[in-house]
Amino acid sequence: MSTFVTKGPVAETQYDLFMLTVWVTLGIFIAVGGAFAFAIIKFRERPNDDRPMPSQGHGNPLVEIGLIGISILLLVIIAVPTLKGIWYTHDTPEDPESFMGAWYSGEELAEEESENPLIVKVIGYQWWWAFEYPQLGITTANEMVIPAGKVVHLELRSSDVIHSFWLPRIAGKVDLIPGRTNSMWIQAGDNYLRWKEKQGAAGPEDESPLLRAEYATYLEEEIHNYYYGQCAEYCGDSHARMLFRATVVDNEEFAEWVIDERTGHGTPDGRSWDDWYTAYADKPDSLTGDLNEGLKLFMGRGKCATCHVVKGNPRALGVAGPNLTNVGSRMSIAAGWLNHRSEEDGSIDLEKQYDNFYKWIHETDVVKPGNRMWKAGGGGIGELIDENGELALLTEDEIHKLSLYLQSLK
Ligand code: CUA
Repeated sequence: MSTFVTKGPVAETQYDLFMLTVWVTLGIFIAVGGAFAFAIIKFRERPNDDRPMPSQGHGNPLVEIGLIGISILLLVIIAVPTLKGIWYTHDTPEDPESFMGAWYSGEELAEEESENPLIVKVIGYQWWWAFEYPQLGITTANEMVIPAGKVVHLELRSSDVIHSFWLPRIAGKVDLIPGRTNSMWIQAGDNYLRWKEKQGAAGPEDESPLLRAEYATYLEEEIHNYYYGQCAEYCGDSHARMLFRATVVDNEEFAEWVIDERTGHGTPDGRSWDDWYTAYADKPDSLTGDLNEGLKLFMGRGKCATCHVVKGNPRALGVAGPNLTNVGSRMSIAAGWLNHRSEEDGSIDLEKQYDNFYKWIHETDVVKPGNRMWKAGGGGIGELIDENGELALLTEDEIHKLSLYLQSLK
């Protein structure tokens, strides 16, 4: 999560601005600190000091006006690029190579969208993130997927308190403010023109296939990656655990991901959802196996479907919690706090993933103190009250089956 290893034009601009500020303030520090050190060394008291008291002066207009002038000058030197940087981050550039029509190979795109960049609506919740892709009709949570080298326009909103979107290596930080939509743009890696300029290659008319191939290699080797993000504005109990991720992929992978998200999931045993729900209503015991048991808990005692969407499942439509479509193929859960991505090869460590699901359902208040799922469950997950009037939380065996079911959503 370093702002010094920049990937893309927005982070780069912010880094340059930071370095300019560092040099200016370093200059001020050396000038002021140097004058101070000079004065205390030259005028310090020595043993048997019989020098007369130095002349005591004040109110030197030349010095005062001079210092005010220098301060104003330095502030202007910092302010001009700062304002330019703010506008730069805010105004999504018109880059024809980033228009959806130029790179997106999926079918679901409306014609009028082909001249727009990819739009992602980012919505902050205590304490997780929703990422909506309105042009593609999909919503995901906590792990956004974006194409390498393409401009992405972000609309930032909050559903409760102020949060802040920060992807240190790509861009940051813009606040998500209740009742207001902020916008910014991000781009993981340079576009072709910018990259070519840095290579010192010939002018914009140079379209040699070789150079294009080199550019593709640059995106693949330097940009295609998994990036860590973090809420950067204090937003309550679990602010520090409100992380998110950006997976930067190539164009084909992006199109595949969209299809996957749009399709969603079937039933664990392959029957149609209608058949499954008929059996669930009439003969629930005929739905056997851990995954079926897990799904029954998801729809029933666990009450998961009242807050979570699972695409495909016609009755899992709640929107108060994160969208769980393909949650089993995400590299982390609990807004990035429970991570199961193997650092060696970037794959999912299945044992760790199971443990993370189990841990999250079992003690969500420990993982993320104060979270809504815990509160909504009255201090746990399960039906609020059973037939004896007791709080009926999920048992260990039920949590086990639910974990297996969630893990299977991929
Ligand atoms: Cu959201 Cu801090």
